[in-house]
Amino acid sequence: MKALVLSGGSGTRLRPFSYSMPKQLIPVANRPVLEYVLDNARTAGATDIGVIVGDGAAQIRDALGDGSHLGVRITYIAQSRPLGLAHCVRLAQDFLGDDDFAMLLGDNILPGGVADIAGEFTARRPAAQVVVHKVADPSAFGVAELDENGRVLRLAEKPARPRSDLALIGVYFFTPAIHEAVRAIAPSARGELEITDAIQWLVGHGAEVRASEHSGYWRDTGRVEDVLDCNRKLLEGVRYSVQGEVDEHSVLAGPVVIERGVRVVRSHVQGPAVIGAGSLLDHSSVGPNSSIGRDCVLRDTHLADSIALDGASVTGVRGVHGSLIGRHARVGPGKGGTAHHTLVVGDHSTVEVAV
Ligand code: TTP
Repeated sequence: MKALVLSGGSGTRLRPFSYSMPKQLIPVANRPVLEYVLDNARTAGATDIGVIVGDGAAQIRDALGDGSHLGVRITYIAQSRPLGLAHCVRLAQDFLGDDDFAMLLGDNILPGGVADIAGEFTARRPAAQVVVHKVADPSAFGVAELDENGRVLRLAEKPARPRSDLALIGVYFFTPAIHEAVRAIAPSARGELEITDAIQWLVGHGAEVRASEHSGYWRDTGRVEDVLDCNRKLLEGVRYSVQGEVDEHSVLAGPVVIERGVRVVRSHVQGPAVIGAGSLLDHSSVGPNSSIGRDCVLRDTHLADSIALDGASVTGVRGVHGSLIGRHARVGPGKGGTAHHTLVVGDHSTVEVAV
C-alpha cells in the first residue's frame, strides 16, 4: 500500500502563520504536524509516500527531505493551486499507479494511529473506506450516512442540514477504483474537486464504500485553538529529560523536556512542557502545556498553555496564556519604557489584551 499526504491548501484559518509557512509545519509538542501524519502513514503499512505540496513546497522539502529520517520514501507532487482533495488524487495518478493507497490530510492529527483501520481495509478491500467521528456540528464537515453494517449510503460536503452526526475525518483508503471517479466529477459550487463527490460517484455506481468509526482523539489543526488543543494532548506523552543547564535556583516539576543548550535561570518549569534547544528561560515561569521552540528567550515572563515557535522572545509579560507566538516574534516592553502599547501586528493577526 502507498500513501498520499495532502500538504498544499491555503490555510486561511491559520493566518497569519500560513502567510509565511505551510500550516502542516506548525510545531505541536515541538514537532511539525506533518511528521505525525507521516508516522501514521507508516503505521498504516505505507513507506512509499506521495506528498502534495503547494506554495509552501520549499519549506516542506527542507523539513522532510527524502523522508529517510522518518523511515519513509517521499515523492513530492506539486499542486499549483488548491483545487480540491480529489484534484490531488488526479495529480498523483502516475505516482499511485495500480496500488491501493491511504490518503491522509497533512493537517489532521490522530495520536492513536490508523493501523487498525488500515487492517480492516486490507482484509475486506472495499473500493473506498472512509473514517468517521461523531461531532456536535457536522455541517462544517463532509458527512456520511451509513446503513447498520457500516456501508456508506450517501455523502455530503458541508451540508446545511446534515443527515447524520458522522463527520469524515482526514483519513481515507482507496483501491485504484477511485481514479475513474476523480476523473468523472466536476468542480463543486466552491470550485473544488471534492473527494466526497468522487466517493459518492463510487456509491452511485454500485461500488462498496465502507466507513470505520474512530472514537479516539482526533483534531484537524486548521485553527489556532485546535493547534493548542493538540499540543496539550501530545504533551501528555512527554517523559522527563534534561540535557540543558538548570541553575540551583530553578525548579522543574512534572514531565519536562529540557533540550541541549537550554539555560534555565531562576525559573520554574511546570510540566508537561518542552523547551527547545538553545532557549533561555530567565526569571520566568513556564508551563504547564507549553512548547517552546529552539533559540527562544523568555525573561521575567509567565507563560502557560502556549506554543512559541523558533527564535521567539517574550520579556516582562506575566499571564501569557493560550497563545501561539510566531518565529522570531518579539513581545515585550518598548525601548523608552512608556505607558503606550506599540503593536506591529501582521495581517489577520489576533491580539487579546487584558483591560
Ligand atoms: P483544508 O484544511 O480543508 O483546506 P485549506 O488548507 O485550504 O484550509 P483553510 O480552510 O483554512 O483555507 O485542507 C485539508 C488538507 O488538505 C490540508 O492539509 C491542505 C490539503 N489540501 C491540498 O493539499 N490541496 C487542496 O487542493 C486542498 C483543498 C487541501
